[in-house]
Amino acid sequence: MNRRTVLTLGAALGLGGVLAPGGAAWSWSPARSVVGGGSGVDPQWVWDDDIDRIMASVIDNGQVPAVNSAIGSWVNNWQPVPQGLPPELDAFLQESTKMPAWADMSKLRRAADFNRRKDTYLFLIYGLGGGIMSTVIPREAKSVYWSKGGADMQDRAAKTFSFGYDLSDINAFEQTGEFRVTANKTRMVHAAVRHLLPQSPHWKAVADETIPISNQDILVTFHSTGTFAHRKLKEWKVPMSAADEDAFLHSWQVALHFLGVRDEYIPATWDAAHAQAAEILTPKLAWTEEGQALAEVLLGLTAQVDLGVTRGFLNEFVRYQLGDEVGDWLGLKRDYASKAVITAGWPTYIKFREGLIPFAPLTFYMFDQFVRALAMAFLNQGSSGTTTPITIPDINRPG
Ligand code: HEM
Repeated sequence: MNRRTVLTLGAALGLGGVLAPGGAAWSWSPARSVVGGGSGVDPQWVWDDDIDRIMASVIDNGQVPAVNSAIGSWVNNWQPVPQGLPPELDAFLQESTKMPAWADMSKLRRAADFNRRKDTYLFLIYGLGGGIMSTVIPREAKSVYWSKGGADMQDRAAKTFSFGYDLSDINAFEQTGEFRVTANKTRMVHAAVRHLLPQSPHWKAVADETIPISNQDILVTFHSTGTFAHRKLKEWKVPMSAADEDAFLHSWQVALHFLGVRDEYIPATWDAAHAQAAEILTPKLAWTEEGQALAEVLLGLTAQVDLGVTRGFLNEFVRYQLGDEVGDWLGLKRDYASKAVITAGWPTYIKFREGLIPFAPLTFYMFDQFVRALAMAFLNQGSSGTTTPITIPDINRPG
């Protein structure tokens, strides 16, 4: 990717972008992290050693079905780590389910309230923007496509959505919430994938890394969702207090910790997060065959739901969020009439919703139906929690 493309993309996404001379050297300082210091090692070479070793042994010893049945009824934060796990896994989870010392419950409660107040925008940003952006992050697209879940994107989308849903739940981190359990299950799945994908001839043929889902990859995904959401809310002038913004970041900080990202890489402020995103997200975006296939499935799934709008409108809303460069990569057909409606109507819709103007724009009900239907579509897929439990895979996508 050349410098011009990085700058155009960065501008379109509002994320900025830098190309380090001579390649993608890691220069983000651990002084900007939640713990204010660290080794400074490039997170591209950092995985999650303890759980990776444990899950590799679970898979190699044929214990995946037993582990899945043990964790099946483990849902709420108040529940102890379930019985029947291999002792090493049990010992790991005893520690990894504890809140980090720097977590602040009052900020997390505010974050939950913020998530509820802004949920319509967040569904749209995470679901359409972040979801489609993940298909132009080559390492993510290739891992998702060639892992077991890639063969059933509907199910996978529902499970991934349950992560976001649990994170934004009002009780997420409380004893009655589910997020600490969901995040730990996800961490186990990622560890299993790190052991499985390197055995897939298909993945190996296209991958540019030997082990997937490094700490850096997880941070990239955070920037394509959380950091991207923060940037879009600012760009769309959605009112947020400084305390709201800080709380929203905090819920992501704790989530990243639970996903096994080392504290020294977790940005302490939004400024630090945006700087990290410019370094590791924007320059990585690119078209891949796997990403194209995933984007088609994802947009097809969304289009199945009656959103009260056409597929052309959906395409243009993706372009509105991600820019034309990404839209063109994915071959999203143009619909200039919808584009005009979105460009003129969306900012006014937000203003009216936020009580900043007294009169509803003519297109208000169309936008309102669209965002509500989109939210409901995601909720129906994801909120059930128990119908699509997260399970540990023991195979790759066959072909
Ligand atoms: C599985 C969330 C980062 C690749 C999952 C699952 C969740 C999740 C909830 C379980 C759903 C399922 O079982 O299908 C997240 C979050 C991330 C993140 C919140 C970061 C903020 C990544 C990254 C990659 C990745 C960076 C790859 C580069 C995968 C794969 C699976 C998975 C391959 C397994 C799918 C299967 O079952 O075969 N992730 N993930 N994830 N994730 Fe992630």
